[in-house]
Amino acid sequence: MRRILTSSAAILFLSGIVVANATAPRKTAKEVMKAGFAGDSSLIKKVLSGDSTDEDKKKLLDLLVDLVENDAPKGDAIEWKMQSGAAVLAAAKLVTGREGSLEELKTATNCKACHDKFKGK
Ligand code: HEC
Repeated sequence: MRRILTSSAAILFLSGIVVANATAPRKTAKEVMKAGFAGDSSLIKKVLSGDSTDEDKKKLLDLLVDLVENDAPKGDAIEWKMQSGAAVLAAAKLVTGREGSLEELKTATNCKACHDKFKGK
């Protein structure tokens, strides 16, 4: 429970940064999906397989930063920042080699869970 609360606090903090962020995302959500998520040999699949380089992990983190900086086509705006923010946080933990981060990233990048709420048609 404490861990959950701590993560939520971190995500809220992260959302605060995003809300205050003045720079535009370099890639749209669509471009992020095409570059890192779509297809059987996607970057996300490679990273989640556990068999990826530090470079792969950093590239994924970079894409997820762009994702969180976008608005979602549908759904609640704050909830979107929390959900996409959780993926950024998990990827950042993976890059810094924290224990359990791969599992966390897997949960945070569930395709259907995110698409159902935020993808639109
Ligand atoms: C944190 C949220 C989130 C997660 C996790 C996520 N997606 Fe997406 N995805 C989106 C959003 C938002 C869009 C809609 C982008 C738009 O139309 O602007 C999208 C769109 C897409 C598209 C359509 C791109 C296009 O050309 O229109 C594909 C393909 C896709 N996602 C694949 C995946 C796969 C595969 C996974 C899981 C491995 C995944 N996504 C996980 C948020 C997410």
